[in-house]
Amino acid sequence: MTTRILVTGATGNVGRQLLAQLSAVEVVVPQRDRVDLARSESLRECLRGVDAVFLLWPLHSGAALPGVLTEIARHARRVVFLGSGGVRDLSMAGQEELIRRCGLEWTVLRPSTFAVNTRWWAGQIRAGDEVRGSHGGLGMALLHEADIAAVAVRALTADGHHGRVYRLTGPEVLSQAAQVRILGEVLGRPLRWVELDRPSARAQLLADGLPLSFVDVLLDAYAAMAAQPDPEITGDVEAVTGRPARTFRQWVADHRAGF
Ligand SMILES: NC(=O)c1ccc[n+]([C@@H]2O[C@H](COP(=O)([O-])OP(=O)(O)OC[C@H]3O[C@@H](n4cnc5c(N)ncnc54)[C@H](OP(=O)(O)O)[C@@H]3O)[C@@H](O)[C@H]2O)c1
Repeated sequence: MTTRILVTGATGNVGRQLLAQLSAVEVVVPQRDRVDLARSESLRECLRGVDAVFLLWPLHSGAALPGVLTEIARHARRVVFLGSGGVRDLSMAGQEELIRRCGLEWTVLRPSTFAVNTRWWAGQIRAGDEVRGSHGGLGMALLHEADIAAVAVRALTADGHHGRVYRLTGPEVLSQAAQVRILGEVLGRPLRWVELDRPSARAQLLADGLPLSFVDVLLDAYAAMAAQPDPEITGDVEAVTGRPARTFRQWVADHRAGF
């Protein structure tokens, strides 16, 4: 039985949910002024007495991941890893391969697009009824961060999840235009999608506050996704937690104040 859990990324979208849902066990939250995932040795102190680690990888480089896993394996017996598409020098498959080989009991969470990304539109929605961007027809299986956390809680605290890769998705595929429609319905606003060409979409994303280094990566990802079939919906959230994945409508209701 796992009793003491280290949570990385505790101030983030998933981490905050995880802390809220891990109320029954002792949780260790690294102090960010002392702990940096880019320096594996900085984790040593807070790993003492820890049984399991929730590990996400918020860095652009994966260079420090092997060292962090070695450090974790010295202390804990279990790791639950949330993969990241934002690592430039280490693909999701490369990250997962390191987890498989780390010598710990491991579980990988492979998430679809987070619903929280729609908060990028919050400034536009506060300013008017139009949400402007490119690839309005692009389908996404938006995932509620509470469902990622709920799966992580099971994998961290119960047996039977070792060696499993969970492909987490929301319950339905929604185009970006449909996401805007649902936002409008829940917020009681006549919101509508306005399609832009790439240069205008790029300028809009910068105006929305996304960093320059990310904007072209994102637009390239949208173009690549648009050339693929819609994402497949999996039942992994329900299979692990016993309840269906939350809808985007539910997510908007939970985050009304953020718009
Ligand atoms: N958004 C998506 O659609 C999507 C899809 C697939 C995967 N993901 C991945 O999911 C993961 C979790 O996302 P999230 O939204 O919960 O994260 P988030 O809200 O962006 O928060 C990132 C967390 O990582 C911490 N952090 C940043 N740099 C760190 C460092 N050098 N050392 C230690 N901690 C550090 C931050 O702490 P401070 O606040 O103290 O800086 C924060 O708690 C990310 O790795 C992301 O790439 C996202």
